[in-house]
Amino acid sequence: MSSPLRLGVNIDHVATLRNARGGLHPSPVSAALLAQKAGADGITIHLREDRRHIKDEDAKDIKQAIDIPLNFEMAATEEMVDFAIALKPNACCIVPEKREEVTTEGGLAVAGHEERLKPLFDKIKQAGIRLSLFIEASEDEIKAASALGADIIELHTGTYCHAETPADKAKEVEKIAKGARLAQSLGIEVHAGHGLDFDTVGPIAAIEEMQELNIGHFLMGAALFTGLEEAIHTMQAKMAQARKSGS
Ligand code: PXP
Repeated sequence: MSSPLRLGVNIDHVATLRNARGGLHPSPVSAALLAQKAGADGITIHLREDRRHIKDEDAKDIKQAIDIPLNFEMAATEEMVDFAIALKPNACCIVPEKREEVTTEGGLAVAGHEERLKPLFDKIKQAGIRLSLFIEASEDEIKAASALGADIIELHTGTYCHAETPADKAKEVEKIAKGARLAQSLGIEVHAGHGLDFDTVGPIAAIEEMQELNIGHFLMGAALFTGLEEAIHTMQAKMAQARKSGS
């Protein structure tokens, strides 16, 4: 029997929509509270260096408002580490960030960058915040994450979601499953996310070692048509079904 699988809901794009007109509507805090009411197991936000969606005040207001864990995505910079230590989220998920990208395009390069990353990661851990690293499911990256004391790895599912043929998709699922097994054997909690939707979530949810999926863009789009609660319930049902049937 595999362990329960949590759903973290990423609400960045509520802030994207609000920022399109300025002002206060729609409110990311209201979205976080609605996701919590719908049964989300956590809220994820990404405070980007250019503040294109979530703003500093949003992060503070959301942290204050919710009773479920906050997963705070951020770049590995001194500024963000200091902000995170003051915010005290449940976990900091370190992501790569380039200003010109539309979204987070690949996993964080940990292997080979240990010297720069270690002091930043140590500060996060010393503040009692769980360290999560958003990485590709490669043996080198997972071992490097382990050596740096990651509590969690979030495996990047973007390549899987964008794969065009069933064979390519199956290859990516196997890579993610293998990475999940390795991480668990090293004592690291395994999460995954990026690009997941109702059609792609099943095979990732079925990976036994998987403990949490973080999903945003698709859920917010679905919410426009069905409301956020129904979108979350449908996603949870698909995750539970995949968990039960193993695919
Ligand atoms: N996990 C991480 C680390 C991300 O950067 C993102 C995108 O912000 C997600 C999960 C959610 O991806 P999506 O919005 O495509 O569901």
